Amino acid sequence: METTYDNSSLKLKKEFLDAEDFLPLNGTDYVELYVGNAKQAAHFYKTAFGFQSLAYAGLETGIKDRVSYVLEQEKIRLVLTSPLGDGGPINEHINKHGDGVKNVALWVDDASKSWSETTQRGAESVYEPKIIEDKDGKVVLSAIKTYGETAHIFVERGDYNGIFMPGFMPWKSEYNPAPVGLKFIDHMVGNVGWNEMNQWVEFYAKVMGFAQLISFDDKDISTDYTALMSKVMTNGNGRIKFPINEPAEGKKKSQIEEYIEFYNGAGVQHVAVATDNIVETVTAMKNRGVEFLKVPASYYEDVLDRVGEIDEDLAPLSELGILIDRDDEGYLLQLFTKPVADRPTLFFEIIQRKGAKSFGKGNFKALFEAIEREQESRGTL
Ligand code: FE2
Repeated sequence: METTYDNSSLKLKKEFLDAEDFLPLNGTDYVELYVGNAKQAAHFYKTAFGFQSLAYAGLETGIKDRVSYVLEQEKIRLVLTSPLGDGGPINEHINKHGDGVKNVALWVDDASKSWSETTQRGAESVYEPKIIEDKDGKVVLSAIKTYGETAHIFVERGDYNGIFMPGFMPWKSEYNPAPVGLKFIDHMVGNVGWNEMNQWVEFYAKVMGFAQLISFDDKDISTDYTALMSKVMTNGNGRIKFPINEPAEGKKKSQIEEYIEFYNGAGVQHVAVATDNIVETVTAMKNRGVEFLKVPASYYEDVLDRVGEIDEDLAPLSELGILIDRDDEGYLLQLFTKPVADRPTLFFEIIQRKGAKSFGKGNFKALFEAIEREQESRGTL
C-alpha cells in the first residue's frame, strides 16, 4: 500500500494509475440521511439549499415501516428517511447519532462484482447483491460497511428508466423553490476516532482500491486549541474523494472530538458540493436562511498576499465570508455552513474550484478559529 502514497504532491503515483481498477465507480449515486422528520427535513433542503422534489416512498407506495423523500439538484441526490414506527434500526440510528448520513451510495456498472471484489478484500457485508424491479426495469444493489455505522451501497442502474428506484413514485409538489447552483458532490469527509485514521485509509486503499491524494498532519492543521490529522483517499478516476479526519492532541477539545462525542462515534462530517458561482450560490443560500461560519474581517487584509491574483472581486467574497486558497494548479473558493441539525455534527461545504485540486489547507487555521468560537459558545471547547 505504501507504494501508492505520495505525501509531497497532489499527483498520484504511476503504479496506482497503471494498476487495474477492480472497483470502477461512475460517481456518487445518492447520499441517504436518517432523520427524525423526513417531511420537514425535505422542506428545509428545498427551501434553504434549493433541492428539487424528485421521488417518494412510504405508505402510499406500500412501504409500511419508513418514509423516504428523494431530492435532487443537478447531479446531487439526497434521500431523507424517517421511521414510521418505533424500535427499529432507523430509530436506533437516530437515537444514537441524531440526524446524519447513513448511506453513501456509489454508482457502479456491476453491483455484484463490486460486492465480491470488496468483501474478498475484507469488507464487511451489509447485504449481498439483490435485484429490485418494477415496470420501469431493474436495479441491482449491494452494500458494505465503512467507518462507524455508515455504509456504502453499490447501485447498478443498467437500463432502469424509473424516477429513482423501484418502489418509489414521482414526488410532485406545488412548492418548488429555485435551485441555488449546487452541481455535484466534490468530496465527503469522514471523522473517525483517535488513532483510527490509518485503519480507514488502509480500508479505502486495500478494500476499495483507492489511493492517498495528499496528506497533511497536525502541524498543518492546528490552532491553539483544536487539532486534527487528515488524509484524502481517492478512487481510480478521481470522481470520488473521501478525506478521513482523526482528532489530534491540542490544548482543548478538538472539533473532531466534539463531533465524535455528539455523533457517538465515527461518521460523515461534511458533504462538499461544487458550484460554478460561489458568490451567487452563497448569496441565495444566506437569503434562504442557511448559516455559515464567519472568519474575522482581518482574514481579507492579507489574503491576496497569500493566494495571489484571483478573477473575482474581493469585496463580495469578504462580505459573504468566502475563503480562498491556492495550490500548484490553481485556486479555490470555499465556505462552510454551520451544523445543519441540532447536534454539532454534519455540515456542508460550498466549493468552487478554479484549477486547484486540494481542499483548502491554507484556510484551516482561520476556519478552525471560527469553529472554536462556535464551540466556545456551546461550552464544548
Ligand atoms: Fe472539505
